[in-house]
Amino acid sequence: MKSEDYSQGDAFQAEKRTVFSTQALPLCAEGQVAKPGDFISATVGGWGVVAVRDKDGDVRVLRNACRHQNMQVVGAPAGNCESFRCRFHGWTYDLQGRFLSAPPPVAPKDLQSPDLHLASLPTSIASGIVFFSLAGPPAPIDVDGLPAYGGTVVTDIACNWKVCVEHLLAEHTPSADFSWAWPLLMVRRAGAVTIMEQVVPHTFLRTRLFTHVFGRSADDNRQAVATIKHVCEGLQLDRAGGKLAAESTLVDDFHRRLAAAYAQDRATT
Ligand code: FES
Repeated sequence: MKSEDYSQGDAFQAEKRTVFSTQALPLCAEGQVAKPGDFISATVGGWGVVAVRDKDGDVRVLRNACRHQNMQVVGAPAGNCESFRCRFHGWTYDLQGRFLSAPPPVAPKDLQSPDLHLASLPTSIASGIVFFSLAGPPAPIDVDGLPAYGGTVVTDIACNWKVCVEHLLAEHTPSADFSWAWPLLMVRRAGAVTIMEQVVPHTFLRTRLFTHVFGRSADDNRQAVATIKHVCEGLQLDRAGGKLAAESTLVDDFHRRLAAAYAQDRATT
């Protein structure tokens, strides 16, 4: 990895094409969309998506891109609603993403066209986490004996997503108590508690961290999450200044996978 990969936007475009477009990505904990109408929206690796539980109780992931003029439909990061109304010209969609209506001045000619619905992405739920994929069926993780969901701590960090992943991998090796679902999810067990750290590459220099806590209240992790934020923002300055991550088993594996993705991107663009 080079310093520029953490501080200049070109790497993010390559990652969008070869990592985030091809892998199953975590979006949220199922417990964050527990009730019909609950939704979580996020930009994950440059892709705007929204997870929503419909009135039948099913969770799906939709592209957060209006079929009128491709603008962002859902602006709030989380909430509960009966339907989605695009902020720009008022097209509305139900909780399954199906087009409902539009004001007459901007109404489509063919109201029955399937092209009016929000794009629905392959979605799966595994070990309490909602995954989506742009390229094929999501590959779920499997965590045995997962305790009850205790909540999620959400933190915005001023760093590139790779800094956060490196930090969360740095002190671990694969074991019964720690696993990594490439590229964005770390699972850590500590006795009766399981913590899932979900990295959300929001923009090139802004990362959202979802810390999903199972087995106790998420509030017990707030201080630890604040420390992660503080450390990662310091590490971002290090990377921009040329100080790269120290070697470790999982960080090296992360870098190998990224190098392969960049090479693939160079070969196809
Ligand atoms: S872009 Fe959504 S209604 Fe126009």
